[in-house]
Amino acid sequence: MRVSAYEDRVYIHKPSAATPDSNLADDVRAGLTAALKMLPPKYFYDEIGSELFEQICATPEYYPTRIEHGLLEDVVDKIVDLSEPKVIVELGSGSSRKTELLLQAVLSVQPTLRYIPIDVSEKALIDAGERLVQRFLPLTVDALLADYEEGLKHERVREQQARKLFVFLGGTIGNFDHDEAVELMSSIRRQMGDDDRFLLGADRVKDHDALHRAYNDERGITAQFNLNVLRVINRELDAAFDLQTFEHHAFYDPELSRIEMHLISKLAQRVPIRALDLTVEFGRRESILTEISRKFTVQGLTQLIEEADLVVERHYEPENRYFSLILARPA
Ligand code: SAH
Ligand code: AVI
Repeated sequence: MRVSAYEDRVYIHKPSAATPDSNLADDVRAGLTAALKMLPPKYFYDEIGSELFEQICATPEYYPTRIEHGLLEDVVDKIVDLSEPKVIVELGSGSSRKTELLLQAVLSVQPTLRYIPIDVSEKALIDAGERLVQRFLPLTVDALLADYEEGLKHERVREQQARKLFVFLGGTIGNFDHDEAVELMSSIRRQMGDDDRFLLGADRVKDHDALHRAYNDERGITAQFNLNVLRVINRELDAAFDLQTFEHHAFYDPELSRIEMHLISKLAQRVPIRALDLTVEFGRRESILTEISRKFTVQGLTQLIEEADLVVERHYEPENRYFSLILARPA
C-alpha cells in the first residue's frame, strides 16, 4: 500500500485486512459460472482502469462529466448554503474533480473541513488527496480504501458529530439495479443525522443516439476500459483471457432505461482461471454483462430517494435536462 507524501494531512485508511477486491475470486467464480455470465463493475478500477475512466470523461461523446460539472458550478453555493457541511463523505470519489467545486465553496464560508472519500481505487484516492491538500490548506483528507458499504460503516464516518454532506456523483447510482440502489442509499440514510444532507448526481433518460455514443466513443477508450476487467482477472487470478478474442458491445435498452455493457467472445473458447482451479467455457458470441448504467426520469429518482427514507429538498437540472443533481434530507 502506498503512503502519501502528505502523510500528515492525507490519511489513507484501509478498513479491513482484506483488500477491497478480496471478493474478486468469489465474484468471478459466481459471475462466470452463471447461466448469463456477468462481472461486477467495481473491478474495472485498478490503476489502468481509473486512468481509462478519466480519459472517457474527457471524450467528446461522454457528456455526463462535463454536464454535471457545469451544473454543480452553477448551484454549488446554494447546496453549501442549504447543507452547511463540516464533513463531506463521498462514495466513489475517483478524481474528486467535481467535488473540488464543493470543497472550494465550503472553504470560502468556513475555516476548516474534513473530506472523507470512499473508493476502491488507491491511486485515485492518493492522487486526489494530494492535489486537494495542496490546493486547500485547511482541508483534512481521511480517505477510505474500501467498498461503499464497508466505508460507510467505518468509525471515521460514524464518529463524526458535525453536520455531514454525503455525496454520490457521476451517475454511479445507475450502475446498481433498483433494489441495490435502494439498499445502498438506505445505508447512507442510516449514517445520517437529522441535519445531514445527501447530494446525488444521476444521468437522465434522453435521445438514444446521444446515450449510445457516450458508451461507444470513436477512439475506443470505453472499449479498452471494458476489456480492462479481463486484464485485472488475468493478473489477480492467474487467468488466461486473450483480450483480442473479446469485443466491447454497449447499447441502450429503452425498455429497461439502461445502457448495458458487454464483452462478447468472438469465438468458442475455454479460458483457464488458475487461481480458481476453474476453466470457463464460452460459446461463439457469448457475452459477459460487465455493467449496467441506468438512466432516470425525475419521477424515478424521486421514488428512489423516497424508498430510502429520504425526501427531495432541491432538484437541479441543466437546460437540456441531461443530468440531475438532487439534494435530499432525511424524511
Ligand atoms: N465520482 C467520480 C468517479 C466516478 S467513477 C466522478 O463522478 O467522476 C466510479 C468510481 O467509483 C471509481 O473511482 C471507482 O474506483 C469507484 N468504485 C466503483 N465501485 C466501487 C465500490 N463498490 N466501492 C467503492 N468504490 C467504488
Ligand atoms: C462510473 N459510471 C457512472 C460510469 C457510467 O457511465 O456508468 C462508468 C462508465 N462505463 C462506461 N463509461 C463510463
